[in-house]
Amino acid sequence: MTAKELRQKYLDFFKSKGHAIIGSASLIPENDPTVLFTTAGMHPLVPYLMGEKHPEGTRLANCQKCIRTTDIDEVGDPTHHTFFEMLGNWSLGDYFKKEALSWSWEFLTSPEWLGLDKNRLAVSVFAGDEDAPFDNEAFEIWRSLGVSEKRIARLPKKNNWWGPAGITGPCGPDSEMFYWAGASDQVPESFNDDNDLWVEIWNDVFMQFNKREDGSYELLTQKNVDTGMGLERVLTLMNGLDDNYKSELFANIISKIEQLSGKKYGESEATTRAMRIIADHLRAATFIMADDKGVPPSNTDRGYIVRRLIRRAIRYGREIGIAEESWTKEIAKIVAHDYAGVYQELGRNIDKVIDWLKEEEAKFKKTIEKGEAELEKLLSSGARVTGGHAFDLFQTYGFPLEMTKEIIAEKGGEIKNEEEFAEKLARHQELSRTASAGMFKGGLADASEESRRLHTAAHLLLAALRKVLGDHVYQKGSNITAERLRFDFSHPEKMTDEQNKEVERLVNEAIERKLPVTWKEIGLEEAKKEGAMGVFEAKYGAKVKVYTIGNEEVVSKEICGGPHVENTAELGHFTIQKEESSSAGVRRIKAVLS
Ligand code: GLY
Repeated sequence: MTAKELRQKYLDFFKSKGHAIIGSASLIPENDPTVLFTTAGMHPLVPYLMGEKHPEGTRLANCQKCIRTTDIDEVGDPTHHTFFEMLGNWSLGDYFKKEALSWSWEFLTSPEWLGLDKNRLAVSVFAGDEDAPFDNEAFEIWRSLGVSEKRIARLPKKNNWWGPAGITGPCGPDSEMFYWAGASDQVPESFNDDNDLWVEIWNDVFMQFNKREDGSYELLTQKNVDTGMGLERVLTLMNGLDDNYKSELFANIISKIEQLSGKKYGESEATTRAMRIIADHLRAATFIMADDKGVPPSNTDRGYIVRRLIRRAIRYGREIGIAEESWTKEIAKIVAHDYAGVYQELGRNIDKVIDWLKEEEAKFKKTIEKGEAELEKLLSSGARVTGGHAFDLFQTYGFPLEMTKEIIAEKGGEIKNEEEFAEKLARHQELSRTASAGMFKGGLADASEESRRLHTAAHLLLAALRKVLGDHVYQKGSNITAERLRFDFSHPEKMTDEQNKEVERLVNEAIERKLPVTWKEIGLEEAKKEGAMGVFEAKYGAKVKVYTIGNEEVVSKEICGGPHVENTAELGHFTIQKEESSSAGVRRIKAVLS
């Protein structure tokens, strides 16, 4: 089975159960300041799981691109990735446990769909605690589907509770499905969560709770279903393979790495691990950079993750003997070639990715040269290099600990007090975590009132910018916390003070006029014809929500998921705090409401 067939089968199945198929959203979450990347298919759907109406209805399914960096250190084994595709189906206050579990079982086992051997499947349900009781309902549904009691594990929150995607938001008990990846004549009678040969393949989450900032749970207004199936894992087992990196999704990437390094995948454990890391990291970095809201490598937030992925890949490239000057772009080209049929943005944006990779590789090379020179100095002074020295090299030049170790090992030595590195790093991270804690406050993830107001202000701001600066102004991104709005837009030069004042005045005028904010649901083409502004086309379905501000005289009309205030009178006073450059041709405004 190919990845294309698997995606199609999944979507066809859920279409046959009345689901609308929606596109993958951007990897950069819109208006959720609590996380850097889209981590699951449910993530872009948070407002709808919280009760907003979705224009495509109450049953949705898709294949969503996701990034999870929490597992970055596990990458290198056969199953972990930082980037992966998640197949998912959702009920927004529509069907619940019975349908969700029965359909999952049907899709997995029916010969018409995946046709997996029932004897190789096992499941788990939530065991219950002070937040929610034992999920007897899910347990009974599994039994009625024919799953033996010994294959239904009851597990605690650590295993059988999913969410929220960020710090706050929808979550709930879940029920997971596992496939026996060992020999078919050795399937154990009982399911045991500790045995790695039972591979988790699908997760049905019963999203009935909202986690609040204080850590408590409140019931949502509606009962939802959120499911997530890892495409890479299922593809691997459908093809009887024991390693995701042997699947068709990685074939071209790995073969390019083999060609560049002159080594063979599988020839040694170290080589295999290095090749997996390179393949995973460059695939992830390419997807992040090639997103329509893509970010280049840098030293902050998302850019730092991109930098880390690329530099780690380069370092492992060195380890397996890749000597070429600028090679990471060769992998990116393959990723774009392999995936552009499914994710068109990879085709659209690959030139930009190639430029960024070339630049980043040159920068890293300089870093390495400087670090190596410093290290040489240290060594020739006769000093024993310590973990503390290694940390200073890392801190000043971004020179990785592993490289320090490598160079010293080449000279037949080893680092003294290596643990100093980890100690200093932990202290440093503690400080920067405190500094960025502000970033995790509030946000649309909990649909807080402040961010709702700022979100409406963002629409007024765009309209005012277009009026004052011209029709070349489009929204390029936005980030809303409970305290402020950050808004990126296309404009080639710094705004003058007069333009700034005029934009502010127009927004405040719209606020003072107490204009109604209304929405309707129409076809995407019709919305465009009506002149509604849109931002990130890729994720729109056939039907969209259009928010209008004003009545006879329309001030703003935008395609948007919401939520918004009902009247501009709720906004108070709008002030632009800062206008600055964001990147080439893009300006950034920071604004507040008081
Ligand atoms: N949101 C479901 C999952 O990630 O498994």
